[in-house]
Amino acid sequence: MHKVTLTELGMMKKDGRKIACLTAYDAGFSRILDEAGVDVMLVGDSLGMVVQGHATTLEVTLADMIYHTRLVSAACRRALIVADMPFMSYATPARALGSAARLISEGGAEIVKLEGGAVMAETVRQLSAQGIAVCAHLGLTPQSIHKMGGHRVQGKEQADAERILRDASLLAEAGASLLVLECVPPELAQAVTTAMTIPVIGIGAGAACDGQVLVLYDILGISQHQPRFSQNFLQSSASIQAAVGDYVAAVKSGAFPAAGRHY
Ligand code: KIV
Repeated sequence: MHKVTLTELGMMKKDGRKIACLTAYDAGFSRILDEAGVDVMLVGDSLGMVVQGHATTLEVTLADMIYHTRLVSAACRRALIVADMPFMSYATPARALGSAARLISEGGAEIVKLEGGAVMAETVRQLSAQGIAVCAHLGLTPQSIHKMGGHRVQGKEQADAERILRDASLLAEAGASLLVLECVPPELAQAVTTAMTIPVIGIGAGAACDGQVLVLYDILGISQHQPRFSQNFLQSSASIQAAVGDYVAAVKSGAFPAAGRHY
């Protein structure tokens, strides 16, 4: 089984082939997602909520992320593995280098993800200069939940939309290889996706992005709070394997997200 690479994701963007991404937190689900054809597995710090039972992602530690990334990478043969850098583990470029190194060498991550705009450009530059692949994350950034005043859609105002577009360019110029765009208006997601040469993966951001990511527990209907933009694929499937397969097929065909299914 061949391994998905960033080069392949870039070709998928160019060809208009959608990228299917899901979160994963352990080896059992990693194997199921891999066999279902998920292109990118995100070991998300959403595990703080869906696995650990916290209200936010802020309690998740670097040790937690390394542990869960190791579980996922142990069973993953094909998908590209992205691991979240947890809250404050990349507060300075030096800290980010140390945290990323551990996620990669101890956890088996292939790309590290960090939240934030222009302020993260220098960190992305230094990670990238050391040969570390980085996924940026803009729009709703859950590690800033208190500063944002809750889970709120971002980029609705013209000035905010322009800032997000500018930040995306800055981060790509700094060396980011992927971008996650969360809970922004579909028109903004479309503008960012068109402007970027790197693949843009949306969540609650409409259908125009190069790919989609959802939280695994949401598509299986076992999260405590199901976001409006997500979909329970297990409801119409006979098994977890079939539900994940249906999600992948729906992303690839463009059936998910349906019009109006955003934030
Ligand atoms: O932590 C996570 O699962 C994420 C996705 C929701 C994009 O960052």
